[in-house]
Amino acid sequence: MKHRDHSKLLAALRQEYERRSPRSAALQAEALRRLVDGGSHTLRLVQPFPPRIVRAEGAYVTDEDGHRILDFWQGHYANILGHNPPAITAALREGFAGGFGLQTGFTDRLQVETAELLCRLTGAERVRFTTSGALTTMYAVLLARAFTGRDRIMKIGGGWHGAQPWGLKGVDFHGENHSRFHHVETKGLPGAIAREVLVTRFNDAEMLEGLFRQHGDSVACFILEPFMGAGGFMPAEREYLALARELCTRHGAVLIFDEVISGFRFHAGAVSQLYGVRPDLATFAKAVGGGMPVAAVAGRADLLQQAGRGGGVKFSGGTYSAHPASMLAAKVMMSHLEANAREIYPPLAALGERCRRAVEAAFAAEGLHAVCTGNGNEALPGSSLGMVHFPYREGTRFRSPEDNRNPDVCDVVLGDTVVQLALLLEDVFVVHGLGALSTVHTEADIDRLAEAYRRAARRIKASL
Ligand SMILES: Cc1ncc(COP(=O)(O)O)c(C=O)c1O
Repeated sequence: MKHRDHSKLLAALRQEYERRSPRSAALQAEALRRLVDGGSHTLRLVQPFPPRIVRAEGAYVTDEDGHRILDFWQGHYANILGHNPPAITAALREGFAGGFGLQTGFTDRLQVETAELLCRLTGAERVRFTTSGALTTMYAVLLARAFTGRDRIMKIGGGWHGAQPWGLKGVDFHGENHSRFHHVETKGLPGAIAREVLVTRFNDAEMLEGLFRQHGDSVACFILEPFMGAGGFMPAEREYLALARELCTRHGAVLIFDEVISGFRFHAGAVSQLYGVRPDLATFAKAVGGGMPVAAVAGRADLLQQAGRGGGVKFSGGTYSAHPASMLAAKVMMSHLEANAREIYPPLAALGERCRRAVEAAFAAEGLHAVCTGNGNEALPGSSLGMVHFPYREGTRFRSPEDNRNPDVCDVVLGDTVVQLALLLEDVFVVHGLGALSTVHTEADIDRLAEAYRRAARRIKASL
């Protein structure tokens, strides 16, 4: 399969970008002296250099060069109320003014109330807080392995659960001669990870049944996102989740739902509740923290109790776990989402739908076939997420990451790299072609986005 060559277009886009962003360019040169690649999170380090932000408010961020950028990245999909929402910043300001906010090394009423709220809204029996999504999935796996006394982990090819040992296999697509989604992603891991992590295909019931038939009695847990995030913004089919539940129960494995992206994104609670499928453990982060580093493992009391005294699992420590300001932000955020659910979620989903279709139409007008995933299904009442793909063939179905990360099926460079830079030149920021809507994005913002896409599409078309 001959892939399209976008190098000329990319070079032209980069040149133009460099010309219009001299201050961010100068900061990049400075950054490279001390920071690896100029920063601490690869996805933020847009090439040739990222726009360096000085201000963020609502749907927009402003960079060093004075560009006011319409943002669909929104804090890695965390900012469901937009950047620096007054509901959160006012509470934090009040907390700090009253002598409460930075780490104390003690515990407080707020953590108790935040735990109560999270459990009530998600149906969990117990919760323990930590500071990042990666830590939650690592601890969840640890709890599952300890509980079952087994070593094997089952995960989805293309599923991203953060940079922790058991999540670092089968994330990126490696072509024909490698192992597709069966590759270990980093040097430095214990060799056992390659053997102990089994990778299966999202929404593929037959493959799941086969794997459980073969290995079920040695599997500690099956971890998956009920709504696939970085792997392509695709919902699990209802029967697939029900089957996962049934197979885990039958084989004594722990079912873990990673709801780091999906939790509180579709309603004020877990996506599992919308499907009517109950996992044994679930992980939450992003939206829950209201822009602060809050993450949680929640679920069955007997599993989580292993983290307690005498329980044997070292899910503990964390100087900044359940940080007072973070707990405050989380409590305010979850309360706000619950209290205003009706005004928040249906309009957000409607805007998401409008946005996805507008993006497809903009490319279609230039004769380019683009598909924007992120749709809900019969279990999920709409969605505020979107990811853009350029399949070589019309009619390609998107059910698993194999359908969108395989460069023989989709033009991955166009969807990820070209579109991002072309839109940045229009002062619009997207990741994987689009991103997440927030409650402060307006219809006018979507019109602006559509116009930016039309201009980008014309440019791309002219280069092909
Ligand atoms: C589904 C999922 N799980 C876990 C993580 C890791 O979370 P964090 O980046 O907070 O460590 C992410 C991050 O994007 C994610 O999307």
